[in-house]
Amino acid sequence: MIKTLEWTDAGVRFIDQTKLPTEETYVTSKTYEEVADAIRTMVVRGAPAIGVAAAMGVALGVRESKAKDHDELQKDFTRICEVLAATRPTAVNLFWGIRRIKEKFDELSARPIPEIKRALITEANRMLAEDIAANEAMGRHGAVLLPSRGSVLTHCNAGALATCGYGTALGVVRAAVDSGKKLHVFADETRPFLQGSRLTAWELMKDGIPTTVISDNMAGAIMRQGKIGAVIVGADRIAANGDVANKIGTYTVAVLAKEHGIPFYVAAPFSTVDLNTPDGAQIPIEQRSAREVTHLAGKQITPDGVNVENPAFDVTPHQYVTAIITERGVVREPYVESLRALAE
Ligand code: MRU
Repeated sequence: MIKTLEWTDAGVRFIDQTKLPTEETYVTSKTYEEVADAIRTMVVRGAPAIGVAAAMGVALGVRESKAKDHDELQKDFTRICEVLAATRPTAVNLFWGIRRIKEKFDELSARPIPEIKRALITEANRMLAEDIAANEAMGRHGAVLLPSRGSVLTHCNAGALATCGYGTALGVVRAAVDSGKKLHVFADETRPFLQGSRLTAWELMKDGIPTTVISDNMAGAIMRQGKIGAVIVGADRIAANGDVANKIGTYTVAVLAKEHGIPFYVAAPFSTVDLNTPDGAQIPIEQRSAREVTHLAGKQITPDGVNVENPAFDVTPHQYVTAIITERGVVREPYVESLRALAE
């Protein structure tokens, strides 16, 4: 299995996703600030991977803290959490990861400092293992929903690289293929950062799953030709009413899927569900640098000074979502009730 991220004695080690698919290189973040940079610059990306990276970042920051007493440690802890929380705003898993480490920190607040440091590392590693287990469970729940043969379309990368391993949407594809289904994946290239053509294609080819890359504007035509049996994507945040924030372009794919009568599935761990956010309009959407749009592989592709927008995510209203696949089971409309039931 691809090691998207792992804890090492030297720091948090990431496969550098900015270099894929042409270079498979690894970088080690030795401080919590370096972990924050890795998240911001998308060395590591994908909601579940960001959540665990942030948890490991906090554990690393606390391990490196020179605090001599609990008051100093508390101050360091608060600052570390703030820096990591300010990296990317949309994926709720980031805040979930930090909150979970904070719960452990609070629980141990009276214990000796070396014990606290060890416990946070253990907790972050536990989160990594749980993420992989959740993805495998999603795979078991979701595999039955995919057609027994034919093609599915995915957008962005919701695979091993976006998680601690196996993947959410691509985990469901992997589980379906393992169960004997004969599937082919159409991967939208996913402008502007190209997570589909660079990352999804790379990891599916590594697994020998037949894959075809299309540019984003080809999806409608391919659907019209009857080539797509289902769409499956991941999510960065799912509001209480089932509205789904995911990579920019997901909404377009969902509308196209509905128009062509194709089921549109979202696979995500329950940590992506944010019951405190009532609907998609309340989800903060990250705006990224214009350079991601104006340049391709370092080469300028737009006129100097042109206006650019670069929202990294969009919101797909719940009416377009056929089902949400989580490690706790599959839910459908009405999502307000079905998601709440899953939480309980
Ligand atoms: O900007 P990114 O690459 O972090 O965006 C990732 C996505 O939109 C994924 O689809 C989402 O995080 C789900 S990953 C299992």
